[in-house]
Amino acid sequence: MADQSRIRNAAFRAKVTTADEAATHIRPGELVGMSGFTGSGYPKAVPEALAAQIGAAHARGDEFRIGLLTGASTGPQLDGALAKVNGVSFRGPFNTDAEMRNRINSDETAYFDTHLGALAPQVAQGYFGHMNTAVIEATAITEDGTIVPSSSVGNSKTWIEQADKVIIEVNSWQPAELEGVHDIWYGNATGAPPRDSIPLNSPGGRIGRTGLAVDPAKVVSVVLSHDADRNAPFAHPDATAKSIAGYLLDFFSHEVKVGRLPPSLLPLQSGVGNVTNAVLSGLNEGPFENLTGFSEVIQDGMLAMLENGRMKVASATAFSLSPEAAEDINNRMSFFRDKLILRQQDLSNNPDVIRRLGIIAMNGMIEADIYGNVNSTRVMGSRMMNGIGGSGDFARNAYLSIFLSPSTAKGGKISAIVPMAAHVDHIMQDTQIFVTEQGIADLRGLSPVKRAEAIIRNCSHPDYRAGLEDYLARAKKESYGKHTPHLLPEALSWHQRYIETGNMMPK
Ligand code: COA
Repeated sequence: MADQSRIRNAAFRAKVTTADEAATHIRPGELVGMSGFTGSGYPKAVPEALAAQIGAAHARGDEFRIGLLTGASTGPQLDGALAKVNGVSFRGPFNTDAEMRNRINSDETAYFDTHLGALAPQVAQGYFGHMNTAVIEATAITEDGTIVPSSSVGNSKTWIEQADKVIIEVNSWQPAELEGVHDIWYGNATGAPPRDSIPLNSPGGRIGRTGLAVDPAKVVSVVLSHDADRNAPFAHPDATAKSIAGYLLDFFSHEVKVGRLPPSLLPLQSGVGNVTNAVLSGLNEGPFENLTGFSEVIQDGMLAMLENGRMKVASATAFSLSPEAAEDINNRMSFFRDKLILRQQDLSNNPDVIRRLGIIAMNGMIEADIYGNVNSTRVMGSRMMNGIGGSGDFARNAYLSIFLSPSTAKGGKISAIVPMAAHVDHIMQDTQIFVTEQGIADLRGLSPVKRAEAIIRNCSHPDYRAGLEDYLARAKKESYGKHTPHLLPEALSWHQRYIETGNMMPK
């Protein structure tokens, strides 16, 4: 049930309205910043009410669409509901909702994906125009009017600062014990340069406040809600994921042995999904102790390691949990709260901090080319999957930049290792280690041709290996330049064959 006691400031309590009333503050054509990151901490009641109002306006033949910026992906009550009524003209910076993806790929919604750590500074500089309204989910509002964020911080600090109007949605589904978990830094991380140096020297460091400051005069409405985050079911690692995790864990052991990694490794960043779940499960059983996490998201596997003490502390900007883990953490937040820190995403993904701490970055990919250029976002070069997310923030600045992927997709009809990537998110200079279920390619210190030989030999699927070897061999002879050999008319022919026949494999 919606809970008024979470609003501990009388002036804010006097601003309580229904979600419908709150949504009327958002007018056609506005740029709206909403909280939310990987399905956590996004407003639910207000966007649903807004979607209903947009749908009604469209039924009357009226124009009503908004520009929408968030932290990252949200859930069906936000992206799903607004996409259903075609209510979003512009969207950024990351989306996983299938309805919104369809709008994006039909170009009904203009989509701008960017590094998640870079968006707040860009908005603060006015690259997207003026932000009219911020809609922020909160766990509580304190006596002095501070907003206690919920299961993500994302870009909420910047949205509140930039917007003319602020709507706060206080969601009593979120555990009250989240108060104290957040660390919001009020130095100049996003404003005009020169910016302040961020005094964060360890994943567990606390450098800021536990809540978000807001000018009460901006707050036009406070809404009470009681609704669960979009918590995706735990993806149980399959044999492919376990095999990838096995190669990676052996690699970590080797790096410890040769003295390039300490026995507690370095702070871990990992994306979400089947493969990273397998890596985290492997770490939970492996020889490494006193681990730390410095990532965008805290997943089930990190919670398990915090619980048994193998991981000491996990810093992120959001949770990304299964429904079971979310329920568990909601019931036992008092146990976890001193081991968790949620920061604004321009800090969780800050290149300066990532370099200083020496992060081990582990991310998924759509495809890599033989030289190690990575496409994380665009299927066949043109169809948007999700967005670059934080993979660029971490991959470029990490101590170890690792990409993990099955060697094929779509039942073997697509090779994840291709002659030339059809789109590049991570240039070869930013990628070091590739792992598929076939093996691991350590490309550190190798020239392009040596990189290609290692990736083809160790990571490609046997069904595609001969084709890649043949491509490289002919390219070495016929290429315009012999440094990074390519056969340009043929380089993207694998993708074209898939588009035409549904299979990259020649008949
Ligand atoms: N061609 C076409 N489709 C491909 C593909 C390829 N080469 N590789 C993967 N896919 C498809 C899969 O078939 C699957 O599709 P489905 O949802 O229809 O089943 C989907 O992409 C997800 O692939 P999966 O193998 O399950 O891996 P994943 O869950 O790790 O996702 C990315 C891979 C690249 C989509 C994902 O890692 C991503 O969005 N990365 C960018 C953001 C990021 O790295 N964030 C990290 C910081 S949290």
